Amino acid sequence: MMSGVWWPLRAVLFSLPPEAAHAATIAALRLAPRFPRAPSDSKLEQRVWGLDFPNPLGMAAGFDKNAAVPDALHSLGFGHVEVGTVTPRPQTGNPSPRVFRLPSDRALINRLGFNNEGHAAVLARLRRRGSAKGGTLGIIGVNIGANKDSADRVADFVAGLCAFNAVADYFTVNISSPNTPGLRDLQAPTALAALLLAVTTRRRDLVAQGGAHRPIIVKLAPDLADGDLPAIIEVLNGSGIDGIAIANTTLARTGLRHEATAREAGGLSGAPLFRASTRMLAQVHQLTGGQLPLIGIGGISSGADAVAKIEAGATLLQLYTGLIYEGPGLIGSIDRAISERLARDRIGLAELRGRTAKAWVG
Ligand code: FNR
Repeated sequence: MMSGVWWPLRAVLFSLPPEAAHAATIAALRLAPRFPRAPSDSKLEQRVWGLDFPNPLGMAAGFDKNAAVPDALHSLGFGHVEVGTVTPRPQTGNPSPRVFRLPSDRALINRLGFNNEGHAAVLARLRRRGSAKGGTLGIIGVNIGANKDSADRVADFVAGLCAFNAVADYFTVNISSPNTPGLRDLQAPTALAALLLAVTTRRRDLVAQGGAHRPIIVKLAPDLADGDLPAIIEVLNGSGIDGIAIANTTLARTGLRHEATAREAGGLSGAPLFRASTRMLAQVHQLTGGQLPLIGIGGISSGADAVAKIEAGATLLQLYTGLIYEGPGLIGSIDRAISERLARDRIGLAELRGRTAKAWVG
């Protein structure tokens, strides 16, 4: 059904500027009837961080920055939804235009700059939805960030943890957006260690006060140099965090056809990000000895891409740009492709994971 409707719908959406198309999509999802989720293959289910994921695929951060439609996204078939990035105070972000389509590359460039309604508004919306109940309501991750003009970025992340602890099933610490000047400097080992000490210490305090213990995931940029990765992973391994998300958008512009638009500043997402982000995923899988669950993100636009990410080392997957180009039918085709691979090889997700990591790293 979806594929017949999708292409004319896509033509309408693509006739609008990207942010208007996005606003229309969010408005439509707000109004859409909630269908009960079609049961997926039980072989796609995984318990990760104590949470029951019905399938590996989630909605990546940035699509539902303000937690307007998480349950509509779950009913489209996503196994988890990451809302945000949310900053303590509301932000308008960078001047428009700030999102650009590169259709012949199946890519986007964005320099939104964390436009979001801030902690209080997003928290109120998530509270109305009910406290986090993992599988019952659908898993929600809250992606937390720092205000552009923050005097103390570490304090902004800690504030995010405190604000959302009751309603988030997990947290993602976003230190990898290219659109907030200086943010990515928090990936440097010394700064990273200080940030994660502050965040994990506050988590311990929250638990001591009777709060829930929430998993903390760190989201990295795909532009880290190969040589810098081992020291960063050493910090992450020793920090008590629970997982790594690889990767955010890239500043690289290699191999694009859309040359004029490619010159726009911002982070590139979509198909051209697939190779570099998957290679980095495989590197991190190797550096962590497969011990830390990894979320594979970047350029997933087919079932085969999703299978390849798991084979490179991902436990969970997320996408954003693929949904814009391929439509919601992509979600089901990813589930089917993973199921078919598991059935063909008579294995489970755990055995598929990391099979090709070595080959990717070379
Ligand atoms: C993003 N992404 C993103 N990531 C994040 O951690 N916080 C954010 O607020 C945003 N915002 C955002 C806006 C837009 C318009 C896009 C396209 C992307 C990055 C996103 O979550 C993901 O990491 C990358 O887009 C790579 O995945 P895809 O899009 O290639 O599947």
